[in-house]
Amino acid sequence: MTDRLKSRARPTRRQSFTTKYSDLMAEGYSRRTVLKGLLAGTALATSGLGFSRAAAASNSPSSLTFPELSRVTDKTDHWPEGYSRQILLKWGDKLFPDSPAFDIASLDGAAAEKQFGYNNDFTAFLSLPQGSESNDHGLLVVNHEYASPYLMFPGMTDEDYREKLTDAQIRAVAASTGISVVEVKKIGTEWQVITDGQYNRRVHMGTEMRLSGPAAGDDRLKTSIDPTGTIVFGSISNCSGGITPWGTMLSGEEGGMDIFAGDYTTLPDQDLVEREGWDEDENDGYALGRVDARLKFENEPNEWLKFDWVVEIDPFDPAAKPVKRTALGRFTHEGAQVAVAPDGRVVLYMGDDDDFEYLYKFVTSKPWNPTDRAANKDLLDEGTLYTARFDADGKLSWLPLVQGQGPLTPENGFSTQADVVLRTRMAADLLGATPMDAPEGFVPHPKTGRVYIAMTENEDRLPAGEGDAGEQVNVANPRAPNPDGHILELTPPGAPDAPDHAATDYTWDAFILCGDPTDPASHALCHPETSANGWFTDPDNLSVDPAGRLWVTTDGPPDAGFNDALYVADTEGDGKALSKLFYSPPVGSEVCSPAFTPDGKTMFLSIQHPGELRLEDGEDSTSIADAGTNWPDFIDGQGPRPSLVVISKDDGGVIGS
Ligand code: FEO
Ligand code: CA
Ligand code: CA
Ligand code: CA
Repeated sequence: MTDRLKSRARPTRRQSFTTKYSDLMAEGYSRRTVLKGLLAGTALATSGLGFSRAAAASNSPSSLTFPELSRVTDKTDHWPEGYSRQILLKWGDKLFPDSPAFDIASLDGAAAEKQFGYNNDFTAFLSLPQGSESNDHGLLVVNHEYASPYLMFPGMTDEDYREKLTDAQIRAVAASTGISVVEVKKIGTEWQVITDGQYNRRVHMGTEMRLSGPAAGDDRLKTSIDPTGTIVFGSISNCSGGITPWGTMLSGEEGGMDIFAGDYTTLPDQDLVEREGWDEDENDGYALGRVDARLKFENEPNEWLKFDWVVEIDPFDPAAKPVKRTALGRFTHEGAQVAVAPDGRVVLYMGDDDDFEYLYKFVTSKPWNPTDRAANKDLLDEGTLYTARFDADGKLSWLPLVQGQGPLTPENGFSTQADVVLRTRMAADLLGATPMDAPEGFVPHPKTGRVYIAMTENEDRLPAGEGDAGEQVNVANPRAPNPDGHILELTPPGAPDAPDHAATDYTWDAFILCGDPTDPASHALCHPETSANGWFTDPDNLSVDPAGRLWVTTDGPPDAGFNDALYVADTEGDGKALSKLFYSPPVGSEVCSPAFTPDGKTMFLSIQHPGELRLEDGEDSTSIADAGTNWPDFIDGQGPRPSLVVISKDDGGVIGS
């Protein structure tokens, strides 16, 4: 939960890198294939050489031949020469024939429920007709992670908006988060929103959902409006996600603290509250408790446990109730990217995005059914949840979070599988999972079977011998502190021909240790031909395009003037991990979730929280008046509008080629 409500405080840069590069080597990096792809042993010593050679693009080992962008931080967005960018959907745009036009002066809950939401994050393109490989017609399914009332409504600041918001505006804020499903079609060279599309839908705080799986019906999920413990209204902090083989969307609920008002120290299960790591500053982010009584801890002490799950939504059935799948565990869900094991069982990769939290995967009990979509309806209710332990010998073990196995016994507080999924982090603690540096993007590569996991950063990682053992450097998180983040590559057995994503023993390797390779203090591990524009920090979303390249978005610019952006690298060959800068958004934005048409010729990108930083000094903006930009409309007095953009190559070629 590092980027919600407001970007976290900017990291202090590299105060004391006490882990020496030699320690990384000693702990196993030198013994793995990373040496081949990244020239690990020479990356530090030759980084300057790498920069000087980068200009010779014709000799580049990368398959990516687009003209790399130069770093830029200004009021607008930038993309490579030879490409075009279209703004397809903006916050407040109409999704239905009867949606009101965007008008901030009259925005209320009823209007926002019919418009494209705020801060679009996870984005996927699903071809229409359903099941086709169409490249010019489809559904966009989009998460809206959070809202920034002080950048939406004129006349309020980040300090006073809770008091200044009217009840109607609070309802608008609540309705501006959640999920959008919207039909889009390419007509000529332009994409258009089909406002009368039969599948168009908004999911928001008023949407009724079902809870299923081991925790459904548990006493701890019962409330006064839901004595069954199986119903919940709304989904929150919809961050990243995934698409199942049967075409449903999975949406990760990434931390619910900000929607609740009141005193969390009054909640019944204080052990769990403490394990959540909440702090008061995150409480009551939207003043929702004023309009929705259940969102006050004192009124409904169980309501908070109905959030922080993975929600499954069928975008092809607007009437279908979304379902929170409790078998997948309850934690700060970043997303849920999907692979299929050779025997047809479905595997979901999930990161818990907080410092020192864990990796998870879920393996269904049964194979999915490719010929009968309805047969997969409740597939995600039965299966095994695992957490990950990294070992120094390059082994990765997936440890089952199953009641009755290992330490998950009644003596330790785990009498049912509901106990395990409601207290997932505590169960993983007992199993000895490896604490990671805020794991976010976690994506299986459909061709190689390898799985990429991005650790955004962790300022609080400690050197060996300091603090608690779980906070100290470990083989998979070797830098203390780690303000720049890193990407690891996990390999299931059988890859690449028949990767067994259901297996419990993988191997792993480094892909990139992020940071400035010219700064020895960063201990960055980059391809030596990475250009001065191509290295990055704070990796967040990961996507693999149809050609097999890895796209990386960043979250947390290291210094004023250094923008979050979108990068791309090969995953195989001599150009493996040679990252290049492809797109730069307006100041203060994050780029989220590159999504592609099946032919790889159209890219959809979510541009989240533009203007959240000031242009002049890179500090947090406090109101529309000092927002770094009011992109993309550039209307005086109107705030910026998070938007979804489309990028294509002018010659009709594959993106990145
Ligand atoms: Fe919503 Fe972890 O980013
Ligand atoms: Ca993030
Ligand atoms: Ca993220
Ligand atoms: Ca993010």
